[in-house]
Amino acid sequence: MRPSLGQRLARVATNAVVAKPQLWRLFRGPIRRQFEQLAANWDSIRSPGHLAAYERALARLPEPPKRALDLGTGTGDGAFTIATHFPEADVVGVDLAPGMLAEARRKTPAAMADRVRFEEGDAAHLPYPDRSFDLVAHANMIPFFAELARIVAPGGSVLFAFSVGAQTPIYVPPARLREELGKRGFGDFVEVEAGPATALIARKP
Ligand SMILES: C[S@@+](CC[C@H](N)C(=O)[O-])C[C@H]1O[C@@H](n2cnc3c(N)ncnc32)[C@H](O)[C@@H]1O
Repeated sequence: MRPSLGQRLARVATNAVVAKPQLWRLFRGPIRRQFEQLAANWDSIRSPGHLAAYERALARLPEPPKRALDLGTGTGDGAFTIATHFPEADVVGVDLAPGMLAEARRKTPAAMADRVRFEEGDAAHLPYPDRSFDLVAHANMIPFFAELARIVAPGGSVLFAFSVGAQTPIYVPPARLREELGKRGFGDFVEVEAGPATALIARKP
């Protein structure tokens, strides 16, 4: 099937911003509007098993995180998945689109409400102090490597998952992730697959 206009925008924005993060200022408005419009139907249009590789990657983390961030959380399923895998973790889900966050808050199970919260924010400039998180996870989300290097605590991990591998509109090949993360001192790379889904984790020394 031919990619939609929105999927093409997501692909162009991802490639541009990974190559030149300063270009984000051109894409921020259109990407925010696009996901705001998709928010109400997001859960019904995603591919089935979209977090399969994300979950498999969580199982490979070197240590259970205590403070976790799901960036570009959308309607929150990544944040809920982390909270389910790691019952001791406090989890924040951040997104640009208020409509996505409204859905995520509405879906939050009562049993998780004391340790899962959702906040509006931009992954390019996050309002968190340096070394705030033991895990920063991304499912189908454009990475901002400089902010990641700043907010991940020593010994912490980053996770990047793509629901349908290289066919995902927002996709960064593992070699590119390794290159950008390696420049910033991350290592111990692990790649996983689950059907068409792919993921990579890396650790900050
Ligand atoms: C493709 S959706 C993925 C949502 C969810 N992670 C999932 O896999 O179902 C990308 C999400 O990232 C959000 N997003 C895009 N750029 C962002 C940024 N710079 N900061 C925060 N959220 C962003 C969008 O609003 C959207 O909800």
